[in-house]
Amino acid sequence: MGKLPLYSSPSQSSSVYSFAWKLLAIAATSLALYTWSPFSDCHRFISNVSLDTGVYEDICSQPKPAASQSNYSQVYSTPEFLEESAKRLSGAIKIPTMTYDDMGPAESDERWAPFADFHKYLFKTYPVIHIEANLTIVGGYSLIYTFKGSDSSLKPLLLTAHQDVVPAVTSLDKWTHPPFSGVIDGGWIFGRGSEDCKNSLIALMTAVEHMLKSGWKPTRTLILAFGQDEEINGLAGAVNIEKHLKGIYGKNGIGMIVDEGGMGLDTQYGVQVALPGIAEKGYTNAFIEVDMIGGHSSVPSRYTTIGILSKIVSAIEDSNAFQPHIEKSSPIWGYLSCIAQYGAKSEIPDWIKQAVSSNNPDMKAVADRFAQTTPENRYMVQTSKAATLFNAGIKVNALAESATVTFNSRIDIFSSVEEVQNIYLNLIKSIAQTYSLRLNGASFSESPIGNISVIWEEGSSDPTPISPFTLAAPAWGVFARAVQASFGSDVISAPSAMNGNTDTRYYLDLSENIYRWNPARVGSTLNGHTVDEKIMTSAHVEGIRFFTELILQADDKSLEL
Ligand SMILES: *[C@@H]1O[C@H](CO)[C@@H](O)[C@H](O)[C@H]1NC(C)=O
Ligand SMILES: *[C@@H]1O[C@H](CO)[C@@H](O)[C@H](O)[C@H]1NC(C)=O
Ligand SMILES: *[C@@H]1O[C@H](CO)[C@@H](O)[C@H](O)[C@H]1NC(C)=O
Ligand SMILES: [Zn+2]
Repeated sequence: MGKLPLYSSPSQSSSVYSFAWKLLAIAATSLALYTWSPFSDCHRFISNVSLDTGVYEDICSQPKPAASQSNYSQVYSTPEFLEESAKRLSGAIKIPTMTYDDMGPAESDERWAPFADFHKYLFKTYPVIHIEANLTIVGGYSLIYTFKGSDSSLKPLLLTAHQDVVPAVTSLDKWTHPPFSGVIDGGWIFGRGSEDCKNSLIALMTAVEHMLKSGWKPTRTLILAFGQDEEINGLAGAVNIEKHLKGIYGKNGIGMIVDEGGMGLDTQYGVQVALPGIAEKGYTNAFIEVDMIGGHSSVPSRYTTIGILSKIVSAIEDSNAFQPHIEKSSPIWGYLSCIAQYGAKSEIPDWIKQAVSSNNPDMKAVADRFAQTTPENRYMVQTSKAATLFNAGIKVNALAESATVTFNSRIDIFSSVEEVQNIYLNLIKSIAQTYSLRLNGASFSESPIGNISVIWEEGSSDPTPISPFTLAAPAWGVFARAVQASFGSDVISAPSAMNGNTDTRYYLDLSENIYRWNPARVGSTLNGHTVDEKIMTSAHVEGIRFFTELILQADDKSLEL
C-alpha cells in the first residue's frame, strides 16, 4: 500500500522534505479545495510588549497595561472568516485518524493510513505554511514545522497538538451526526477530535497561515509539532519529536511550550479566568496477583484467591493514605490567591479569603476544603486510586488458582512514584501477614498458603516540575498577555493543574516553561472522548485568535524566555 504518497521514504528517523513539499505546495495552491477569505493588507507587527516591572510579591499580578488585540486578528471577527475556519476544522474531522491501544508500527499497521490522508489535507489547506516552513517527519507520521526566526539567539516557541483521536466505533447510533461527518449544525462543529485535539491543531495552522499571508516574519523561531499517538502513549510521536528538537536546540533549548490541556476559560466567583495546567500528575499502575493451590470447590480451603484479593482491594479502597495536599508553591495556592484578589467580593467563599489573608494558613484545612469543592478539584491536589481491571476463575466448581486486579493511580504533584508504590505495598503487606501469604517472594510465616505478587507499570512516571506562574517569568507574561489580547483585558490568568496527562510529559527536558491549555471557554467544547463531541464555531475562532496573539507576544526580542 502506498502509505506515504507525499514523501518518498517513510522512516522512523527524521528527515527534512522541505524542497519536495515546496514544489508540491506550489502545485497544490491552485487545487486547494478551500479558498481563503480575503485577508487584510500586510501589517507589520509593532511590538509594544514590555514586562510588568511592578512588584512581584503579589502572586497573582496581571500584565499592566493589558495587552490589546493585534491587527492580525481583526479579520477573525468577520462571518466569512468564521465560516471558512469552521470548514477547515470540519474537513480535518472527516479524516478518521484513530489510534488503538494495540496499534502496530507506522510502517506495518494499515490503521495508520488515514494519517497520510490527514497530511495531504493539511498540505492542501495550508499552502503558504508548506512553502515557508521546513517540515520534518518523525516516528512515521508526526509533523514538525519550523519557521526560522531572524534572530537565532532567541530560544524558539514550540506550540503542539496531536493528530490522533480516540476511536469512535461503538454507540454510533447515539451520535446526533456521525463522528467523522464533520457536520456544522446550529453553530456547532460535530465530530471526534473537534474538542480533542484537532481544534487546537487546525487553529494553530490557520493562525500561522493567516499571519504568513499577511506578511508576518518571525523574529523568534516558531515550531509547530503534531504527534501521531498522544491517545495511546506518545511513544512514536512525542518521544521522537523530543529527540529531534533536543538534538537541535539542546536541554532547555526551547523558550516556551504550549500544548493542549488545562481547565479552559471559566467564570468563577465572578471573574473570568484562564486556567492553564502548570504541572502534570504522575502515573502508575499496580498489577496485583494472588496465587494459591486450586482444587475442587466441594472441599475448599479456608481462603480463596478471590477472597484474599478482595481483602486487598478493600484495604486499598478503605485506606486514607492519599490525602489532599497543597503547598505555597502549588498552582492551586496561586489559583486561590487569584480568586481572592480578583473575584467578586460577594462571591468569594470565606475559607478562601481567610486562607489567603492569613500569615500562617492551615494548609491541610485549605487542601481539605478545596478537595470538597468538586471531584475534579479533589484530584488536582490528591493522588487517586482506582481498581480498573479484575479477573479470576474459569469454572463454577473449581477454586481459582489465580486472581488479579489492576489499580491505576495519578500521582499528586508533590508526591512520587516511589512514595505511592510504598503506600500500596504497605497495605498489601498487612494482608499478606494477616493471612499468611508471601509478598513478592518475602515470607511472613512458616507455611504460607500462597503468593501475592505486585508488578508496576513499566511506563510509571513521576509528577512533572511546576512551570513558573508569576510575572517574574517572561513566559508567564507572554501567556497572560495573549489571554488579554484575545479574550479581553478583564480576563485574568491563574495557574491550575490537571488530572490527565498530555504529550508534554516527554518534553520536560526541552523547556522549564510548559503550559497546557485549550483556548476555549468552558461549555463551548463538549463531550471529549465520548458521544457527540463538539465545539462551537465561535470557540474555534477564539482559539485561532489566542494562538495568533500568543505567537505575537512571544515574538519579542527583548524577552528572554
Ligand atoms: C494596527 O493598525 C492601526 C491602524 O491601521 C495602527 O495605528 C496600529 O499601530 C496597528 N497596531 C499594531 C499593533 O500593529
Ligand atoms: C530549512 O532548511 C534549510 C536547509 O537545512 C535551511 O537552509 C533553512 O534555513 C531552513 N529554513 C527554515 C525556515 O527553517
Ligand atoms: C509460591 O512461590 C513459591 C516460590 O516462591 C513456589 O514454590 C510456589 O509454588 C508458589 N505457590 C503458588 C501457589 O503459586
Ligand atoms: Zn488530547
